[in-house]
Amino acid sequence: MSLLKEGAEKYGKYGKAFRIKTPSRDMIVFSSREVLEELKNLPASVVNFRPAGDTMIRTEYNFHEGMVQDAYHVDLMRKNMTQKLSSLLPDVVSEVTDAFEKLTDVKNEWTNVNILDTSVGVVSRYFGIHRRVFGLPTCRNQEYLNHMIQFSITVMKRANVIDVLPWFLRWIVASFLLKKKDSQDIMVKHIGGLFETRQKTKTPHTSSTTTTSDAIQWILDAAPPGTPTLKLVQRLMLFNFASIHTSSMTLAHALYDLAANPEFQEPLCIEMEEVLRTEGGWTKQALTKMKKLDSFLRESSRMNGVNTVTVVRKVITSHTFIDGTYAPKGVWVCAPATTLHRSPELYENPEIFDGFRFYRMRQLEGNAHNYQMASTSLDYLSFGIGKYSCPGRFFAANELKIAVAYILCNYQLRLNGGVCGKKPPNVSSGFVCMPNPTEGIELKEREGREKSVLFPGHVTSCSL
Ligand code: HEM
Repeated sequence: MSLLKEGAEKYGKYGKAFRIKTPSRDMIVFSSREVLEELKNLPASVVNFRPAGDTMIRTEYNFHEGMVQDAYHVDLMRKNMTQKLSSLLPDVVSEVTDAFEKLTDVKNEWTNVNILDTSVGVVSRYFGIHRRVFGLPTCRNQEYLNHMIQFSITVMKRANVIDVLPWFLRWIVASFLLKKKDSQDIMVKHIGGLFETRQKTKTPHTSSTTTTSDAIQWILDAAPPGTPTLKLVQRLMLFNFASIHTSSMTLAHALYDLAANPEFQEPLCIEMEEVLRTEGGWTKQALTKMKKLDSFLRESSRMNGVNTVTVVRKVITSHTFIDGTYAPKGVWVCAPATTLHRSPELYENPEIFDGFRFYRMRQLEGNAHNYQMASTSLDYLSFGIGKYSCPGRFFAANELKIAVAYILCNYQLRLNGGVCGKKPPNVSSGFVCMPNPTEGIELKEREGREKSVLFPGHVTSCSL
């Protein structure tokens, strides 16, 4: 990580490519717009995210070998998740409310909350769309939830350990210390049966027209016939991992930013109340209209992107880039997202947290649909770019809006002891930027707001 930072300071700032060597690989880091534009458009036969993805999360030790590369479920998810967004909203609202109230005990006095644990707890309840997938009993089953949370944390830890070991020690360490089998047994116990029951009643290749459209069905529709239950379960675990880890870190960063910059709390609350009143509740349209909140989340993600490098690709066919850099077959290439997000060439006062920066940019003529939390661009790389950009980003942006809206409208937030503006430093692990895990923030019930107007009733039943 420090090598990346040093290289980015020395060369990346000026748009020059540089190379870093880690114990497990060589990486070429590109910052120039022209090269990133080229990278975005190169075919998969030249550069490809998926083999790099397999190595980044060490699928052979955490799941099964080659499963990111064999991403048969991703296209179906890309299509179905966005389509399904509207019908998932009531469930998400209900899960956020229930999860947050169970995870914290905040009344009308300032109370310290470990925001990282709370964010992971909230997100694990709805980002895996557990409620739609499993129904209430399983999605609120504590053993299952604890396990999902633990698993999403340990995947990265395992990958980081494996990364620094010589190849001959990897399987030994993996089998004795990393206990992949335990994780899988618990998941098979909880969800293996769901796949098997659905398979028995499945009409041949129902695809997205199926009556039960959920993650289990998407995987079943796309999986090659005869795929064993364990491999189907592992694919759902991979999907949950991709969503829980990234989304919970993003939520925790945003809550820290709200606590450190309390002047944004009231205007955001006013926007939410107005939009919900005019739209008559939580609809997709209402979320689209929360433009200040959207801007706040994008600014938080600009300054504290979960991944310090993105657009990671493995070079499949040796290639000379437009700036003359030769990338041999097998090397990895990537973009230093954090450095670019803080570049004065791209952003005015880049080191200042300006929650409504993107809101103002969207007010300019012709920009109404640009600069949204989920829009990708060469200046904003939190969700990658091009063919492999994150398929869950629209879902993530909306779920994050609901979580932040719920917390903001019901509670006031401040840093520990009521300090303003000095957010505790982030913590880096590999290429991941985590919010401070120890400091926490303080919350207090907000007075004079009708909870029921914003979050009417907790839904208590769910039909699949
Ligand atoms: C704030 C939350 C999230 C962040 C910051 C994030 C970030 C990313 C990034 C940086 C990539 C690589 C893109 C590239 O290299 O061009 C990616 C890919 C991916 N993400 Fe996300 N993600 C988030 C949420 C989600 C969610 C909620 C899901 C699923 C429900 C998801 C599923 C995936 C998948 C399946 C891929 C691989 C795409 C492919 O192989 O084509 N992500 N994400």
